Amino acid sequence: MYRTHTCGELRAGNAGEKVTLAGWVQKIRTHGNLCFIDLRDRYGVTQVTFKDKLAAEAQRLHKEDVIQAKGAVIKKPEANKALATGEVEVAAAELAVLNKAKPLPLDLDNPDTTEETRLKYRYLDLRRPAMQEKLMLRSKAAVAVREYFDREGFIEVETPILGKSTPEGARDYLVPSRVNPGKFYALPQSPQIFKQLFQVAGLDKYVQIVKCFRDEDLRADRQPEFTQIDLEMSFVDEEDIYRVMEGMIKHVWKKALGVDVKTPFPRIPYDEAMLRYGSDKPDLRFGLELQDVTAWAHKTDFAIFKEAATVRCLKANGEFSRKQIDQLTSVVKTYGAAGLLTLKQTKQGLEGSIAKHVNEPPVPLKENDHLFLVAGTERFVAPALGALRLHLGKTQGLIDKDQWRFLWVTDFPLMDWSEEDQRYVAMHHPFTSPNLEDRHLLKKAPEKARSRAYDLTLNGVELGGGSIRIHDPELQAEVFDALKISKEEQQRKFGFLLGALSYGAPPHGGIAFGFDRVIMLLAGADNIREVIAFPKTKDAEDLMMDAPNTVSEEQLDELGISTKK
Ligand code: AMO
Repeated sequence: MYRTHTCGELRAGNAGEKVTLAGWVQKIRTHGNLCFIDLRDRYGVTQVTFKDKLAAEAQRLHKEDVIQAKGAVIKKPEANKALATGEVEVAAAELAVLNKAKPLPLDLDNPDTTEETRLKYRYLDLRRPAMQEKLMLRSKAAVAVREYFDREGFIEVETPILGKSTPEGARDYLVPSRVNPGKFYALPQSPQIFKQLFQVAGLDKYVQIVKCFRDEDLRADRQPEFTQIDLEMSFVDEEDIYRVMEGMIKHVWKKALGVDVKTPFPRIPYDEAMLRYGSDKPDLRFGLELQDVTAWAHKTDFAIFKEAATVRCLKANGEFSRKQIDQLTSVVKTYGAAGLLTLKQTKQGLEGSIAKHVNEPPVPLKENDHLFLVAGTERFVAPALGALRLHLGKTQGLIDKDQWRFLWVTDFPLMDWSEEDQRYVAMHHPFTSPNLEDRHLLKKAPEKARSRAYDLTLNGVELGGGSIRIHDPELQAEVFDALKISKEEQQRKFGFLLGALSYGAPPHGGIAFGFDRVIMLLAGADNIREVIAFPKTKDAEDLMMDAPNTVSEEQLDELGISTKK
């Protein structure tokens, strides 16, 4: 037997027992004829004490050597409160070196090691207890998710990884087919079509914890391959989805963190979220709401205001230096705003870049109140001020980090105008049902039609999104028409789904949560790479495996592929 106990297990009650521990040497200290080793495994750390001849052997060990130690458990006169096993130590009678370790390329005790080194040697980085805790939390949460859906009567069904393009709006990862030269599979951006087909098949209440693949620009909360908690149900409306997902969150938060989450979650329509927070995923942990002052702005003699379709502002109190205001300006400019206008209340009166154009402020101001205003079209004004709100929330310390502020954002527009493609594109995906009250708008003003799509957000992060789907082939055709997807393209891309809808499709709907994002928030991590065992870099590379990489000419020949320089 390699070990009788783990390194996290021994307590005062074990005193007197003969035990065998095995693990990694975390720390070595010597004191006279004694050598103390902190021995680590994934369960914890135990102090093992070596004496005389054994101490001389132990001193020759190096950090991260793998050893086995046998000895008696001794209760310490004074407990080491920093360790869970701190009440005891093991007085070693035998030492076996199971494996030696070369000096490590990264210092496990130094959290500032560059991410590049950490990812290159991820198998060492993952030895850090902090990393292991996150992966254990992930495992616990996955168990809780499965437990919950099993209790709710869901079935887990796997869907193919080699398939055809799925319409989630990102680029596909393609896989060449050797036996069908010149043809490619696409990796799923989501199991969207399959889960709808399950409903046509009568497999109500489908769930899957599933890998998805999207070739898109990466950010702190995006990876090219990521995991979804994906589900679909028949004969449901929005309320059923909200209830099921709120129940899941409640269960997972309780099981993973012991936290009681209050349900139901508040809801806000998309339009209102954009108006008040400038974001479709508002962080509700702080106020600082935007205010629309368009009517007031149009009454001033300021040309920029008179010409602007929309003028909105944020009010913040405090001192802002020239440099800080420049910084705020660059925040709104990143979001396409032409600039940031300011108004400040001082003892002497109004100051700031627009003071000479206005007599009265649009909202009451106290001394040292600043108004930050952005003028332009709604498309740019809202997200620019939304970003400014977040920036101020963070830099002014307005965010209470101990809160869990869940929020359903509802009534998303069905479509959005794409400047790049010069046509309307589905805001969620083209199978999302319009709000039937707005069906008449599909032809004349599709941008005004609301959809039956919803997102769940938490502390300013989009955790998941879904919708009630179209189950009527005629309505599906109307939506495809509004999206300018030709009949030929409809058949080529989604013919099998359209066929399926015509064979008795039940009303259905669903949602998918980003599992990595859920874990990121549960773990209090600030990017999802921290909660993924082997993540990709911002350039979609695996630094440890050195992937992606070139392949041999033979492999390419076999696939009938030649690469361009
Ligand atoms: P959507 O595209 O909104 O919807 O994705 C659902 C959730 O998946 C997570 N997510 C990601 N997480 C990490 N990296 C990424 N690149 C990434 N992309 C998405 C987000 C997001 O909210 N089929 C629909 C769901 C449905 O309609 O039922 C879908 O995939 O947390």
